Amino acid sequence: MNAARRWVRECRSLCVLTGAGVSAESGVPTFRGPEGLWKRRDPMSLATPEAFAEDPKEVWEWYQWRRRKIRGCVPNPGHSALAAVEREKPDFLLVTQNVDGLHRAAGSRRLAEIHGDIWVVRCTGCGRERTERDDFETLPPRCGSCGGLLRPGVVWFGEPLPPEASEAAVRMLTRCEVLIVAGTSAVVAPASGYAAVAKRRGARVIEVNPDETPVTGICDATFRGKSGELLPVLLG
Ligand code: OAD
Repeated sequence: MNAARRWVRECRSLCVLTGAGVSAESGVPTFRGPEGLWKRRDPMSLATPEAFAEDPKEVWEWYQWRRRKIRGCVPNPGHSALAAVEREKPDFLLVTQNVDGLHRAAGSRRLAEIHGDIWVVRCTGCGRERTERDDFETLPPRCGSCGGLLRPGVVWFGEPLPPEASEAAVRMLTRCEVLIVAGTSAVVAPASGYAAVAKRRGARVIEVNPDETPVTGICDATFRGKSGELLPVLLG
């Protein structure tokens, strides 16, 4: 741990990639693993534009259920440690696949939410977006301006990433000295390839995850455990 702590402390440019695991200790369910959301549901039956076109009510019921679950969750010490290290680094970017908003709630600001934000709703008709934290009484919800169907402001399988967040992430991978990969199974592209991109350029790659993942083999250091416990030590 000491060498990795030194790499983090001494670097000027730090990038962190997070996934659902960093919110697990806050009570947000992960997608994969024994308790994962996808254990019971096939992702393709819910998180795709095709599923939404076919049955928007069913897709919305799932999102409303997740929104309810996440609404009661608060950031854990892993989120807080990431917000604190950001304040110390001249060059920093937190790239997250999470849509739960807990990094922002913890105080992170240099943040690229590459899979969107579950609290944003967007009209499929007029394209208007707004933040809405409350439940919708009727599902699927409709746009107050044009009557079009509203959709969650998240990225579904087969959709492009939000360009601004994705470009910021890719630019950071071309210059960071250290990349920490925490709480992601590293199987969903393009984030699954980020560690290899940084590594090829000579960045140090550090993984924090209770389990082995496809990126473990290229990491300079791996820490097996919970991010809520290990990130405060690694970044402290
Ligand atoms: P996954 O659910 O695939 O993976 C969660 C990872 O977190 C696993 O590798 C676990 O071992 C690890 N983990 C569990 N508890 C942890 C803890 N306390 N501390 C640290 N790690 C822990 O989640 P993601 O990799 O984020 O995309 O999934 C990527 C994408 O797949 C999601 O953004 C979502 C999903 O389909 C879309 O919906 C587009």
